[in-house]
Amino acid sequence: MSDRENDERRPVLLTRPLAPEVEAFLRSHTDLQVPLEDRPLARSELLARVGGVAGVLAMLTDRIDEEVLEAAGPSLEVVADHAVGYDNVDLAACARRGIVVTNTPDVLTDATADLAWGLILAAARRIAEGDRLVRARGPWEWSPSFMLGREVTGKTLGIVGLGRIGQAVARRAAGFSMRILAHSRRPQPETEEALGVAPRELDALLAESDIVTVHVPLAGETRRMFGEREFLAMKPTAIFVNTSRGPVVDEAALAAALSSGEIAAAGLDVYEREPEVHPALLGLENVVLAPHLGSATVETRLAMGMLAARNLVAVLHGEPPPTPVGSAGE
Ligand code: GLV
Ligand code: GLV
Repeated sequence: MSDRENDERRPVLLTRPLAPEVEAFLRSHTDLQVPLEDRPLARSELLARVGGVAGVLAMLTDRIDEEVLEAAGPSLEVVADHAVGYDNVDLAACARRGIVVTNTPDVLTDATADLAWGLILAAARRIAEGDRLVRARGPWEWSPSFMLGREVTGKTLGIVGLGRIGQAVARRAAGFSMRILAHSRRPQPETEEALGVAPRELDALLAESDIVTVHVPLAGETRRMFGEREFLAMKPTAIFVNTSRGPVVDEAALAAALSSGEIAAAGLDVYEREPEVHPALLGLENVVLAPHLGSATVETRLAMGMLAARNLVAVLHGEPPPTPVGSAGE
């Protein structure tokens, strides 16, 4: 809680330039510092710039840990993360210092679910592979057996993680007449029933699904949740899609499963060590690789920026932020 006047503008660091509307809102309530260049702050720059600020509006590429909090000092009251996944923030360290952490759920749910569907269709129907062939001016001609993919309509979709994004993916599956299975940390019978989703243990979901799509947060128990054993448990015709966080998947094991035919194809938007991608994946035709585009639409990025800014300003005004981390749904 701040006992300061609402109109006293306190120093705030925004780590990357955002939309003019977002910066204008922050400027009207804070003494805003924004780097001029649109690139990630180097660690040393982050540590230098954070000193004495009351709030940080951080990107998922900024690691906000004990060292950063120490560099900020006792003035820091809020870390407003510009992401739904806040694995870049050390929550325990923030809690020890009484620093509020917020994220940007809900506003990016549809965009991320759409991207997951884009990857499902691209992997099943070999769209990116076909694009490469056309651009390479490779010889091609319509033929009854040319570049056959896998039908999506009528298949079984396995959703791992039935949070907001997983649920949005399930709603979209209705248009493809799919049977939908889901595995989630806690049972949510009402949600499952409303969505027409059948709950499954992970192993059963992997064995039964034609498409497996991952929507879990990155945490201790989800790190490398998908490895050799899990890919082996899937059908040889299965398509695996990950739009959550890269470290949830053992990339070397996925590349091995894709090249040996243990599974048929994959679509990835996130990687273990972004922006690096495991070299074994880069050589494979049966994986679609997107550069972390889940929430990357004009509309969603504006909404994320505004929500992060509102969270930050609310805390500095001593008001409850709209979406603190740990709020319902997460
Ligand atoms: C994007 O990856 C996010 O967590 O918002
Ligand atoms: C994200 O908001 C999720 O809970 O899936």
